[in-house]
Amino acid sequence: MRGPDLHTIRRRVSGRLLILLCLPMLFACGRGDAETDLVFAVGGAPSELAAWEKVVRKFEADSGISVRLLRQPANSQQQLQGLMVAMKSKQQNPDVFLMDVAWVGLFSAAGWLVPLDNLDRTPFFGELLNRTDVYDGRLMAAPVYLDGGILYYRTDLLEKAGMTRPPETWRELAESAKKVQEQMRPENPGFFGFVWQGAQYEGLVVNFLEFAGASGGIQLQDETGGVRVALKANLKALRFMRDLIWEYEISPPSTYTEMQEEEVRTFFQSGNAMYERNWPYAWTLHQSDGSPVKGKVGIAPLPAPEGEKGVSTLGGYHIGVSKYSDRKADAKKFAAYVTSKEAQRMVVLELGWNPGRGDLYEDEALLERYPHFGEFKDIFRKARPRPVIPYYIQVSNVLQTYISGALARNRSPESALEHAQIEIDSLEQRYGRNPEGGGGQLSESFPYPSFTHGEAVP
Ligand code: GLC
Repeated sequence: MRGPDLHTIRRRVSGRLLILLCLPMLFACGRGDAETDLVFAVGGAPSELAAWEKVVRKFEADSGISVRLLRQPANSQQQLQGLMVAMKSKQQNPDVFLMDVAWVGLFSAAGWLVPLDNLDRTPFFGELLNRTDVYDGRLMAAPVYLDGGILYYRTDLLEKAGMTRPPETWRELAESAKKVQEQMRPENPGFFGFVWQGAQYEGLVVNFLEFAGASGGIQLQDETGGVRVALKANLKALRFMRDLIWEYEISPPSTYTEMQEEEVRTFFQSGNAMYERNWPYAWTLHQSDGSPVKGKVGIAPLPAPEGEKGVSTLGGYHIGVSKYSDRKADAKKFAAYVTSKEAQRMVVLELGWNPGRGDLYEDEALLERYPHFGEFKDIFRKARPRPVIPYYIQVSNVLQTYISGALARNRSPESALEHAQIEIDSLEQRYGRNPEGGGGQLSESFPYPSFTHGEAVP
């Protein structure tokens, strides 16, 4: 028998390293006896933790079940690694956790989740639930909050650009951003027209999918189930993204080195940009006391190429119960509570996040406090999910590398897409229709969303 080859050894070593690196990132906070508490893993931002504390305390008081919050890193890539380590080593905790909507396909297909049969599906947006959370007809996760990309703009600067409404097309966006940038530079040399998430991480893929629009993106072939990214619309998107930085010079070069959500938000919030692409969470922060742009911010759908409609990527976090939990019944009760009207309202009021439940967008009290919810609802309804395939994470990693290379001008957009396609084809051969996580098998009825096919790059 042959011993392990270099590649296998490298993978094993890096797998172990990953475990060692990830363990310290998963640290517990809160109170309670670690042996008996139900463990709930959440994101690590301080404001988020405070909101979850409230929800947990109320649940404990009502149910008599004690819950410990497990704080994960704020970075979603690190959160994913932490959860994957727990699942692959079949850890009993966390019992219940929040997942980026982009990972639900992987977790479902890997067999890491138990169905949430105890949840009432009616209050959620039906199509969204079917596309992202239903696997083999069973509900494997449920949305806790929703995200969709939107354009933030400075209402006070719009006039300077000679505009009466926010830009709807790429050309309007680029021209008005350039104009205002030129006007602002003498008094603020660090001013830029448009900021968006271009660093090498999941957010870059999200932005790319939005630029790529309805006829591009990550397309699934009906016949083979294979993934195509070498598409004309994607080439156009990548060229435009690169040109925003280097040709029109309205997005800073730091776009591809460091711009993630918070870098983009603080840039805009400090008064240094005319337009910003971000998620709805930025709204409450922009409008908070002490924000230099308070009262000067508007929101609009993302602009599109001439003659097309803008596309938002669907984001957000969903709750799931671990297959390896020894407290599944309690964990399911907790998941039901987190998605209940009462708990969702608490989170909305605390954080201004957009609830996963559709019925809260009709809630008078919430609408009074957050009048923009009405507009967001429509954006979420139409937002386009990332494909629900088990190896989405790997596809995304390939795209991140090549898109970033094109933005840094290390390779042309054509070559970036061609090479990304070659690597994705080989990923499919490696993973086939089996999830990387192992354990589960993809069933025939795995819910691939159906996309209209774009035109391939000739
Ligand atoms: C937000 C979205 C999530 C997305 C991530 C990318 O957290 O909710 O779905 O993957 O941003 O940075």
